[in-house]
Amino acid sequence: MHRMEDINRQTWSNSWALREYGRGKGYIDEGERVVLDRATADGPKRVLDIGVGGGRTAGLLQGKGDYLGIDYTPEMVELARRNHPSLTFRHMDARDLSALPDGAFDLVNFSYNGIDSVDQEGRMAVLREVARVLEPGGQFVFSTFHRNWDGFSKLPDYRHIEWTLDPLRLSFRLFRFIEGGILKAVRTRRHAALEVRAADHAILMHGAHDFGIMVHTTTYPHLIGQLREAGFAEVIEVFNRDGERIDADWSGSVEYVHVIARKRVTS
Ligand SMILES: C[S@@+](CC[C@H](N)C(=O)[O-])C[C@H]1O[C@@H](n2cnc3c(N)ncnc32)[C@H](O)[C@@H]1O
Repeated sequence: MHRMEDINRQTWSNSWALREYGRGKGYIDEGERVVLDRATADGPKRVLDIGVGGGRTAGLLQGKGDYLGIDYTPEMVELARRNHPSLTFRHMDARDLSALPDGAFDLVNFSYNGIDSVDQEGRMAVLREVARVLEPGGQFVFSTFHRNWDGFSKLPDYRHIEWTLDPLRLSFRLFRFIEGGILKAVRTRRHAALEVRAADHAILMHGAHDFGIMVHTTTYPHLIGQLREAGFAEVIEVFNRDGERIDADWSGSVEYVHVIARKRVTS
C-alpha cells in the first residue's frame, strides 16, 4: 500500500479538516450540480454516498430517495450524524463494501475527489465494489483529479488570511497561516520523494490542507480502462467544473472532472 494511505488518513481526521468539512454546504461547483441533477432527474433512488465527510452532499441528496452515507474516518461519520440527525451514516471503507448486498443501489456518489485518496490498487477495489452494489444500469457519480493539470507542477498554495479587526482572532489566524507555511515546507520536501508518475496516471502532492494530501490522478484513457475493467458500460459522461460536457477533451487547465458511469447491463 502506498504511503499516501497514512498521509491522507491523518489529514481527514485532523481538527482543521473536520472543521472545514463540518461546515460545507451546497455544490463545490457547477459541474457537481449538473452531474447530480442529471443522475437524479428520473425519480427517487436508493443512494449510497461514499466519503460523505461532514455531510455536505447528504444535504444535496436528501429527499432524492433512500439514503445511506459512509466514510472510513470515524470522526467524519460522527460529524455527518450531528449535521443530519434524520439520515443514516455508517463507518465503512469504500474498498470493502461487503456489509452491503449486491445490486442494493441505483446511485452511488463519491464526491470532491474522495476516490483519489487511495492508491491504484485501492481505486480498482473501490470501482469493483461500487459496480457490485449497483444494480445493472445504476449510476456512479464521482469526481477525480487530472494527471496532466498544470497546477501539479506549480503547486498552488491555498493558504490565505481572512482579515478582521478583532485582534485576538487576527493573531489566531496569523498563527495558523504561519503554521501552514511551516507544514508546507516540511511536507513538500517529505512527500516529493513519494510521488509516482506513469504516463497515464500518477500519485502527486496537492496543496489542499497545507499540502496534507497526496492524490491519485488520472487521464481519460486510464479512467475509461479502469471503469470498463470494473464492470461499467462503454459510454462514460465527463464534465468540467463549469458543467460542460468534455468527455475526452481534458486540457492542462482542467484540475479535476466530474464523471457519470453506468453499470454494464449484460443480457
Ligand atoms: C475531500 S473529503 C470530501 C468530503 C465530502 N464528500 C465533501 O465533499 O464535503 C474526502 C472524504 O472521503 C473520505 N474517504 C477517503 N477515502 C475513503 C474510502 N476509501 N472509504 C470511505 N471514505 C473515504 C475521507 O474520510 C473524507 O471524509
